[in-house]
Amino acid sequence: MGRLFHPVTIRNSRIDGNIFLAPLAGYTDKAFRTMCIDTGASLTYSEMVSAEGIIRENRKTLELLTPAEGEHFFGVQIFTGHTDSAARSVEHVLRFNPSLIDLNCGCPVPKVVRSGAGAALLKDPEKLGRIVRSISGNTDVPVTVKIRTGWDEDSLNYIETAQAARENGAAMICLHGRTRKQGYSGSAGLEHIKQLKEYMDIPVFGSGDLFTPEAVRFMLENTGCDGVMIARGAIGNPFIFQQCRSLLEGSVPPADADDTQKIEAALKHLDLSIHYAGEARAVKEMRKHLCAYTKGIEGGAALRNRLVHTSNTAEIKSILSSFMTR
Ligand SMILES: Cc1cc2nc3c(=O)[nH]c(=O)nc-3n(C[C@H](O)[C@H](O)[C@H](O)COP(=O)(O)O)c2cc1C
Repeated sequence: MGRLFHPVTIRNSRIDGNIFLAPLAGYTDKAFRTMCIDTGASLTYSEMVSAEGIIRENRKTLELLTPAEGEHFFGVQIFTGHTDSAARSVEHVLRFNPSLIDLNCGCPVPKVVRSGAGAALLKDPEKLGRIVRSISGNTDVPVTVKIRTGWDEDSLNYIETAQAARENGAAMICLHGRTRKQGYSGSAGLEHIKQLKEYMDIPVFGSGDLFTPEAVRFMLENTGCDGVMIARGAIGNPFIFQQCRSLLEGSVPPADADDTQKIEAALKHLDLSIHYAGEARAVKEMRKHLCAYTKGIEGGAALRNRLVHTSNTAEIKSILSSFMTR
C-alpha cells in the first residue's frame, strides 16, 4: 500500500485496493476473474449483462451474475436503455450479493447502441441520469457508471454525463478516455481523466491503454485518479496485476512472464474453466484465451494451430504440457 496503490471507499464499500479488472464481454467469466484475483486484482467486474435478460431470468444471463468461489469484491455490470428495466433488474441482481452495480454507458456495438443502451446514453445525459436513479433508488449497494469521453470528438461531454450520474446517486465514475466513434483505436486521452478527477467529489477511475504496469503508474501519477481498470492488458496476461502492485508499492516488479509461466497459467485457467463451465464449454471459451497466452512465445503459431483444431480438454492439456517439456 502507498501513495498510488491504496484501498478505495466507494460510498459504504471499502475495497482493499484500487487496481480493478475492467468488464470485458466474452472474457470476464468466473475462470478468468479467478486468474486475475489470484494475481492481485482488487475487484473484478462481470461482463456487461442485459437488464432485460436478467428480468426474464434467462439461465445463461443469471449465470453471468454469479461470483466465483471466494470472490469477495465483485461488481455486476448491466446495460439497458430503459429506466423500468433497470429498476426491475435490481432485485434480481441483489440476490447475487454484488459489491457494486455498474451501468454500462460506453459500449459502442451498433446492436447495443440502437437499443438506446451503452454509448447511446452519452447522447442523452438526462436519460442516463434517470437510469442511474432507477438503480440507485432501489438499493444501498453502490452504483458505479462507466462512460466514454463522448459520442465523437465534437461532443466531448464527459463532465456533463458524469455530473448527471453523480446527481442521481452514482458513487464512482470510470472514464475510458476514448469517444464512441474511436471504438478501441487511437490512444486514450489522459487529460480527460485528469479533468474529470479535478471536477468530481466521488472516486474517479481511469481506463484505456493500460497494457503495462508503467502505463498504470503513469495514469495514476498524471491524472490523480483514484484507481484504474485494466482491460485488454490482462487478456493472456493476468500477471499484470502482480507487476502493478509491486511497481506501485515501490519495489521492482517481477519480470514479464516467460514461456513456461504463460503455459502454466493457460493450464490453470483451463482447469478453472472446466470447473466452472464443464468440458464442452471450456473448450469453446478457452480458444481465445489460449491464443492470447501463447502470443509471442517461441513456436506459438504452430502451437495455436494445434490447439484450435482440438475439441477435447485432455488433448489441449497434453499439447500444452508437451510444449513445456520439449
Ligand atoms: C473485447 C472487449 C470487451 C469489452 N467489454 C466491455 C463490457 O462488457 N463493458 C464495458 O464497460 N466495457 C467493455 N470493454 C471496454 C473495456 O472495459 C475498456 O474500457 C477498454 O477496452 C479500454 O481499455 P484498454 O484500452 O486498456 O483495453 C470491452 C473491451 C474489449 C476490448
